[in-house]
Amino acid sequence: MEKTLIIAKPDALQRGLVGEIIRRLENKGLKLVGIKMLSLDSELLQEHYEEHLEKPFYAGLEKFMKASPVVLMAWEGYECVNSVRLLVGDTNPRKADAGTIRGDLSIGTGRNLIHASDSKSKGESEVKLFFDPSEIFEYDKAEYMHIYESHERE
Ligand code: RTP
Ligand code: MG
Repeated sequence: MEKTLIIAKPDALQRGLVGEIIRRLENKGLKLVGIKMLSLDSELLQEHYEEHLEKPFYAGLEKFMKASPVVLMAWEGYECVNSVRLLVGDTNPRKADAGTIRGDLSIGTGRNLIHASDSKSKGESEVKLFFDPSEIFEYDKAEYMHIYESHERE
């Protein structure tokens, strides 16, 4: 099934919002298949944020992402990349809809709490970048029959 990478950024850790982020993704019905804490270094950040390397905000973004450890998560679900982007909200939290993680819980664009993969292929490649295959777990989730129709579970 489709996977997406979530990073609870240093501001989420500092503000004690990691649990709230997990709660919202769990409540949606998504399955947590990998989780760990890491201090990100420049090399990994430059690979992850390759598309932004030349942007004026990149230096500040890298510095911020190294300010404290982050919590990395891999989540799984039917079309979960799009679902999670909708739960996360706009990059600029002041434009993010109420009800979204960024819209409800943050204000500054550079302090928007969470990263989420933005396409199915990025979901796959980003999970591979941050997780060893042995750190991704396959298991049955008992409640799936109450969350999905059978064809959505395949
Ligand atoms: P993310 O990759 O973290 O999930 O966020 P996103 O797709 O919503 O936004 P993206 O355009 O990929 O930007 C990555 C992160 O860089 C910071 N940013 N700052 N000051 C600025 O104009 C600016 N623009 C982007 C944000 O922290 C954003 O999440
Ligand atoms: Mg992005």
